[in-house]
Amino acid sequence: MLLILRKTYEDLSQEAARLVGDRLRRKPNLVLGLATGSTPLGLYTALIDKCRNEGLDFSKVTTFNLDEYIGLPRSHQQSYHYFMRESLFKHINLDSRHTHVPDGMARDIEAQCEWYEQRIVDVGGIDLQILGIGANGHLAFNEPGSSLGSRTRIKTLSERTVRDNARFFTSMEQVPRYAITMGIGTIMEARELLILASGESKAEAVRAAVEGPITAACPASICQMHRRAYFIIDEAARSKLTQVPVEEVTGREYAAPGYQSLRLGEPSEIFGERRAHERT
Ligand code: F6R
Repeated sequence: MLLILRKTYEDLSQEAARLVGDRLRRKPNLVLGLATGSTPLGLYTALIDKCRNEGLDFSKVTTFNLDEYIGLPRSHQQSYHYFMRESLFKHINLDSRHTHVPDGMARDIEAQCEWYEQRIVDVGGIDLQILGIGANGHLAFNEPGSSLGSRTRIKTLSERTVRDNARFFTSMEQVPRYAITMGIGTIMEARELLILASGESKAEAVRAAVEGPITAACPASICQMHRRAYFIIDEAARSKLTQVPVEEVTGREYAAPGYQSLRLGEPSEIFGERRAHERT
């Protein structure tokens, strides 16, 4: 596991885009796992910029999104299909036939989940999975208590999530109660994980994920078991970590017991031959 600290959300987004860009240049037919939510928006903006201004080529890329609500049509503004189209897909040269978001309107949801898993296998597995982290440590819709070996499946949304989502809908009846989500086992099979966290509201979840025990009570803690998991976090999200030396200068990357370190200004080890993460 590698912890990369960036000062601000903007810096974090740029670093994440650098990593995605690097992987894409090395492998033009990259299989990229994508997340929705507010955290990856800065990354997506940076990728759009790289596509338009640096010629970053997505034409051979295949994507798989983590999750989708059940019962929302693709055109619904709260659907993750809509989110991805508006935030990323329509702005880059991605072939829409190569994008995958679970179909929450499928007549047979279980068959859809099985198809999704099989489709990932058929394209050779996910190379790089982008992830946000919930304030309670959830990954995708795998809320605390989810099986750490779970596969793509239907999840009942927690009361809390339903309540939180209510503001996006005109009535409570419209708020989705179920979702399709990649499982934690599915996510763990990606060759690399890129977990992004920004802001104080994520600080406790980051601490639990990075320093806490590996437990279903904090699904993101399973990332400790992944050989190539990179957390890119900003200052605020890092604020509850206890093993990062407090005297470190803001904006520098940290050497801390238990974590791999990176130095600012040099190519990150994740881009080079040293493959520092393999020593963890
Ligand atoms: C997104 C997803 C969620 C979010 C998480 C953080 O596809 O599955 O797990 O990554 O809820 O959301 P934000 O980034 O909005 O804080």
